[in-house]
Amino acid sequence: MGISFKEVSHLYPGARKKEWICALEEISLEIAPTDEFIALVGQTGSGKSTLLQHMNGLLLPSKGCVEIFGKTLTPKKNKNPKLKEIRKRVGFVFQFPEYQLFEETVLKDLMFAPKNFGLKEAQAKEKALEAAKLLNLDSELLRKSPFNLSGGQMRKVAIAGILAYDPDILLLDEPTRGLDPQSAEEIMEMFYEIHRKLHKTIVLISHDMDLVYRYATRVVVLNQGKIVYDGDKVSLFQSDVYRKNHLTRPQILDLIDYLNERLNLSLSFDIFNERDLLEKVVRYYE
Ligand SMILES: Nc1ncnc2c1ncn2[C@@H]1O[C@H](COP(=O)(O)OP(=O)(O)OP(=O)(O)O)[C@@H](O)[C@H]1O
Ligand SMILES: [Mg+2]
Repeated sequence: MGISFKEVSHLYPGARKKEWICALEEISLEIAPTDEFIALVGQTGSGKSTLLQHMNGLLLPSKGCVEIFGKTLTPKKNKNPKLKEIRKRVGFVFQFPEYQLFEETVLKDLMFAPKNFGLKEAQAKEKALEAAKLLNLDSELLRKSPFNLSGGQMRKVAIAGILAYDPDILLLDEPTRGLDPQSAEEIMEMFYEIHRKLHKTIVLISHDMDLVYRYATRVVVLNQGKIVYDGDKVSLFQSDVYRKNHLTRPQILDLIDYLNERLNLSLSFDIFNERDLLEKVVRYYE
């Protein structure tokens, strides 16, 4: 198992003394070490970021335990294993990851984490170049200062910097937030490629149900710190659960409904992007 939550609760200190905010309540969850693309969704304040930060030890449980690649994290800080090894295997891409860029050139930035995890200069460079190639960052861009890039490019570089140390699992907290729709789609395509080609498990927080419906293979819905759904996306949006949890319905489902009604078709909901939808419709008339 990659990551396993056993009845995990998390309390934050409240505004007043002895007051606690229960952000997670008795969460049990299993995440495979490879090949998952999980979307973590739910209303604002439902506990998504808190849950994600438990997946590589950024936060420790207040109750229960989290096992990450065989290492167990418990509420007892001083009894816990070294976090560096866990963080090497589980990479975390923060909201606005471009704020973490700081080196003189993009290449140096990409080499920073591999060096920090113990690689020599030459090996770190090799890893950095591999990650750059994977994300189509060209050599001219690698020589630039990370601060002279567009918002979308900066975010790509920040993500490449995490891929450069080759974690097994990638945690992403709203990675497309604040990007224009085209950059958002480019970034999501990138994660999809990483998932498909390198078989990495991806856990992604998103409020964008169109992107979730298009890319995720499993959806976990949180409501007030509890998991209220864990399963496939088609069933989620066919049931009442999405509405009860204030999730918007993916647009493609409205399109499918419309086409079924207007053209008297019987398209099912397991179509996840416009191109596939068009092809299915064309096939009806061929
Ligand atoms: N550092 C903190 N101190 C106190 N309370 C916190 C802290 N961080 C989060 N909380 C509270 O814990 C609950 C869960 O917050 P969390 O940030 O995990 O939600 P979220 O689902 O990620 O929300 P969003 O969609 O807005 O990012 C909320 O009630 C929030 O106010
Ligand atoms: Mg959050």
